[in-house]
Amino acid sequence: MKILVIGGGGREHAIVTAIARSSKATEIFCAPGNAGIAELATCVPIGVMEFDKLIAFAKEEKIDLTVVGPDDPLVGGVVDAFEAEGLRVFGPRANAAIIEGSKAFSKALMRKYNIPTAAYETFSDAEEAVAYIRAQGKYPVVLKADGLALGKGVLICGSEEEAVAGVREIMLDKHFGKAGDKMVVEEFMTGREVSALCFCDGKTIRCMTSSQDHKRAGDGDTGLNTGGMGTFSPSPFYTEEIHEICMKTIYEPTVAAMAAEGRPFVGVLYVGLMLTPEGPKVVEYNSRFGDPETQVVLPRMENDIVDVFEACVDGRLDEVTLSFADNAAVCVVLASDGYPQHYEKGFPISGLETFKNCKDKFVFHAGTKFGPDGEVLTNGGRVLGVTALGADLREARANAYAATEAISFANKYMRHDIGKAIDEA
Ligand code: AMP
Ligand code: GLY
Repeated sequence: MKILVIGGGGREHAIVTAIARSSKATEIFCAPGNAGIAELATCVPIGVMEFDKLIAFAKEEKIDLTVVGPDDPLVGGVVDAFEAEGLRVFGPRANAAIIEGSKAFSKALMRKYNIPTAAYETFSDAEEAVAYIRAQGKYPVVLKADGLALGKGVLICGSEEEAVAGVREIMLDKHFGKAGDKMVVEEFMTGREVSALCFCDGKTIRCMTSSQDHKRAGDGDTGLNTGGMGTFSPSPFYTEEIHEICMKTIYEPTVAAMAAEGRPFVGVLYVGLMLTPEGPKVVEYNSRFGDPETQVVLPRMENDIVDVFEACVDGRLDEVTLSFADNAAVCVVLASDGYPQHYEKGFPISGLETFKNCKDKFVFHAGTKFGPDGEVLTNGGRVLGVTALGADLREARANAYAATEAISFANKYMRHDIGKAIDEA
């Protein structure tokens, strides 16, 4: 099969790596890809939102299956556009990707179908939002821009003053653009956060192994929110018992709800969970693989991923049993110092060759590009994700940090406590 992956970050590098292991894949393309992906796939210089060009390429190359990585093209309808041209594609249509694209939609869905989540109200008027927050008088309170905001449209406000400023930022100053036309005001939940990535075919849902993300920039979960500074899998807090509860109260009801609404979800449903004292609740849904969760989940998957993609697209996921190795993985993100704010890029990276042909450690490129002489340069805030496997989380963590030492670039920055939570488990 000729397979096209849309995207060019660490998640797509992990997806391409999994596809490269498939006995079905004969040729892999990636649009736009990056310097790491280029080792496994032919990178095509087409942007993820250039649907016409992507479709023309898929037709010309006779691509058998396209796999979509990022949220923007999914929410923008790339799957609908491919299907309209008779092309096979893995991912949710726009009317299902809205589960990530609109928090107002996903909260209303959970309310209608009794899926456990934080109590909330939706507003399209700033004054009404402020009046509600004052009447509730409970802090911290969580404010969420309705639409996609690069994972940054969530404000946790510790006081009335902060909350009023937050409403202004989202709804009046439009810090997140049109994403802030509507806003969700939500109860603050406490507990461990776990990411559940699940394959769906519209009717059946099959969960991959669990993982946890570290979203804050600094050690000890301090500093600004980022796209993710590191991950580990499995989560020691996500027990078999909790999985059973989630299956009955969250995963199966969500897939059934989307089908009942005429929005069957096909693709990867990412359920962000909070393990609260009252039980697991949904923090958010995403309509795609997580980044950098994918970088610890897929290296542990034993199935041929192309088989699973096809079973989803063909609506026969009930025939598939997912299988994950009885080991653990830790991914440490190497970022440019200053991320997620101001940072420099364009520095040469050394040490990448130490990962070549390794089966128990990987370097997934997130923000890299080739320089004029073919050398690999930093090209983003998150530059690389270094993943290592181990017999258990402790070993995987030691292996991952040892592997990071092989890599250097001028402004390399990383957290030193990825996976440390396992010491508390
Ligand atoms: P989201 O984009 O909805 O995942 O929110 C980003 C982050 O904000 C989450 O990963 C949580 O750490 C935090 N968060 C979101 N909603 C809540 C909530 N209701 N209570 C506590 N923390 C939250
Ligand atoms: N790691 C968080 C996300 O993919 O949204």
